[in-house]
Amino acid sequence: PLQIDLTNLKDEIAPTMWGVFFEDINLGADGGIYAELIKNRSFEFYKPLMGWKTIGTLKQEGGFRIINRGLQAERNPRFLRVEVKNAGAGAIGLENEGFRGMGLKQNLRYDFSTWYRLEGKPITLQLELLNEQEQVVGTTKLQLTASDEWQKVEASLLSSATVPKGKFRCWMEGDGQLDLDMISLFPSDTWKGRKGGLRADMVQKLADLKPGFVRFPGGCIVEGHELSTRYQWKKTVGPLEERQVIINRWNTEFAHRSAPDYFQSFGLGFFEYFQLAEDLGSEPLPILNCGMACQFNTGELVPLDQLDEYVQDALDLIEFANGDVSTKWGKLRADMGHPAPFNLKYLGVGNENWGPQYVERLQVFTKALKARYPDIQLISSAGPFSNGPLFDYLDKELRAMKADLIDEHYYRKPEWFLGNANRYDNYDRKGPKIFAGEYASHVEGISNGLVRNNWLAALSEAAFMTGLERNSDIVRMASYAPLFAHLEGWQWTPDLIWVDNLNSYGTPSYYVQQLFSTNRGTHVVKALQAGKPLAGQDSLYVSAVWDDAKKELVLKMVNAGDAAVELPLQLKGKKPGKGTIQAMQLQADSLQAANSISAPRQVAPQVSSLPLPKKAWKANLPARTLTVWRIPMK
Ligand code: AHR
Repeated sequence: PLQIDLTNLKDEIAPTMWGVFFEDINLGADGGIYAELIKNRSFEFYKPLMGWKTIGTLKQEGGFRIINRGLQAERNPRFLRVEVKNAGAGAIGLENEGFRGMGLKQNLRYDFSTWYRLEGKPITLQLELLNEQEQVVGTTKLQLTASDEWQKVEASLLSSATVPKGKFRCWMEGDGQLDLDMISLFPSDTWKGRKGGLRADMVQKLADLKPGFVRFPGGCIVEGHELSTRYQWKKTVGPLEERQVIINRWNTEFAHRSAPDYFQSFGLGFFEYFQLAEDLGSEPLPILNCGMACQFNTGELVPLDQLDEYVQDALDLIEFANGDVSTKWGKLRADMGHPAPFNLKYLGVGNENWGPQYVERLQVFTKALKARYPDIQLISSAGPFSNGPLFDYLDKELRAMKADLIDEHYYRKPEWFLGNANRYDNYDRKGPKIFAGEYASHVEGISNGLVRNNWLAALSEAAFMTGLERNSDIVRMASYAPLFAHLEGWQWTPDLIWVDNLNSYGTPSYYVQQLFSTNRGTHVVKALQAGKPLAGQDSLYVSAVWDDAKKELVLKMVNAGDAAVELPLQLKGKKPGKGTIQAMQLQADSLQAANSISAPRQVAPQVSSLPLPKKAWKANLPARTLTVWRIPMK
C-alpha cells in the first residue's frame, strides 16, 4: 500500500507554488489580452500604414501623409495628416483591419477615441463597424472643430451583430487639414469594465487558475534580439501616447512563424501587469534585462562598467512598485491610479542567460539590489537548459553566490517529464530554491502546428508536477509556458490557452494546471510505497498534501499506464472525518485528444463524490488519468 503519513507536517507549500507566465508572444498582449482592436493605432509600425487602408474617391487627391516629429516627440514621433478637401460622404476615409480582423459582439458598445489637430472648417468623422461582407453593423458621427493643440475626442458605437472578423472604417467629411494619432477602439466589456483594458474572457481564464504569481513580461522579449529592442519597463508606464512602440521579438524570422505586423504598443505595460496580478490575488513577479541581449541571437553585452542604467532600472522598479508616493516612481504609480504599494517581493534578473558573462552581471545586480532591498527575493536564470555542462556551471556558480531562487526551464518530450518526476527528490536542501519558470511537454509534431496540445502532453506534465509538489519545500514556484496563443497568430506551440477574436479555451494542460493550483494545500504529506515516493513505478505518480484551512488530505494521483490500477492506501496520523471524498478526474478517449474552440471541454475535469471507505482504502485509477481526491479528516 501507499503509506500516507500525516503525523509530521512540517514542509510548507508556498502560496506562490502554481503561477502563470505571461509573455507577449503568439499575440498574447497586442491582438490578444490587451483589448485594443486597432492595429498600429499610432502609425509607428515600420511600415507606417500597416493595418490601414486609405479609401474613397478623393484619396489620391486628398492625400495622406505620415509626418515624423523626430526628437520633438521621441516616444511617439509619427502621426497621420489628411488633406480633406470639400469632402462629402464616401470621399475620403481610412479602414483598419484589426489584428486578425476584429471580433465584434451583438449589442455591445465599442469605445472610439483619437487624438487630433485641425486647421480649417469643422470636419465630421463618420465612424463605422463593418462585418466580413463590408456591411455596416454600427455607426456614429463625431464633430471635430479647429484646434491648434492636440486634443483627445471620444465616441461610442453599438454593434448590431456578432462578427468574428470585422473591421473599422472612418470617413472624413468637410474641408481642412486633419492630423490624427492614437486612433483607438475598445470593446466596453473589458475585465472589470476598465476603459482601454483587458479582454475579460482571457483574464477570467487566468482568474480560474487562482495563480500564486504572475511572471511578466516574458521570456525572450525581456532580452530582445539586440539591446535596443530589449524590454524597458520605464517606457511602458505613464500616458499611453508616450509609451514607445517597438518591434516585438516574435515578429521576425527568428520566430517559428513570423508575424511581420507584430509590435508592442505597451498598452499593457508594467502598471497594468501589477494591476492584473493584484486583481488575480497573485504575487507580481517581473523579470528584467540584465545587460545581455538574447544569446541565441546577437548576444550583445553591456560592458560591466556601463551596467548602471540597467541596475538603476531595477532599483527604480522596486520604488515604482513599493515606494511611498513622495518618491519619484511611487508618485508615478499613484498618478496612474494606485497610491497603495503593489507589495513587490520577487524580482528576476535576466531571462535564459548563461555563462560567466551572466554571472558577472548578476553579481553587480545582486550587490546593488540586496544593499538597498535585502528582503526582495531575486530570481536568477539557469539558462535555457535543464542539464548538461552549461547548466552545471551556472548551477555551481549560483549556489556559490547563495542565489535566492533559480529559474529552471524545461521544454521537453513527454518521456522526459514522465522520467523526471523524481528530479528534486534528492536535491540539496540547503542551497537556492527552485522556480520552475517555464515548462511544457512537447509531443511529436507540436512545433509545426500539425498537432495541438493533447492529453499525452498534459498527462506527462501532471506526472512531473507531482514531483514538484512533493518537493515544494525546495520548489517554491512553477509556471507553464507560454500562456496564450491566437489561433491565427502564433509563433510557438504548445500553449496553455488558445483564443480567436471572440473566444478562448483551455487545453488539457490548462485543466492540469487548474487541478493543481486550486488544490494546492498548505503542507507536504509523506506518501511512500516500499519506502519511496511513487514517481513512475508501475506508471504511477502520486503526491499528497494537507490543506490546513479545510482540514483535508489532498491526493493527486496519475496513472500514466495503459491499464487500470487499484492503489491500496494506508492513512497514518489522522482519521477520516465526516462527509464524502470530492473526486476530480481528468481523462480522455485517447492520448491525442485535444480541446478546441468548438469543443472546449472535450478534456476537462469530471467531479464526483465518493463515500469514505469504512476500512480498506484504495483508489481506483483508470488508465491514463489524473485523479485528485479531497478527503475530509478529523
Ligand atoms: O516561452 C517561449 C520562450 O521560451 C520564452 O520566451 C523563452 O524564455 C523560452 O526560450
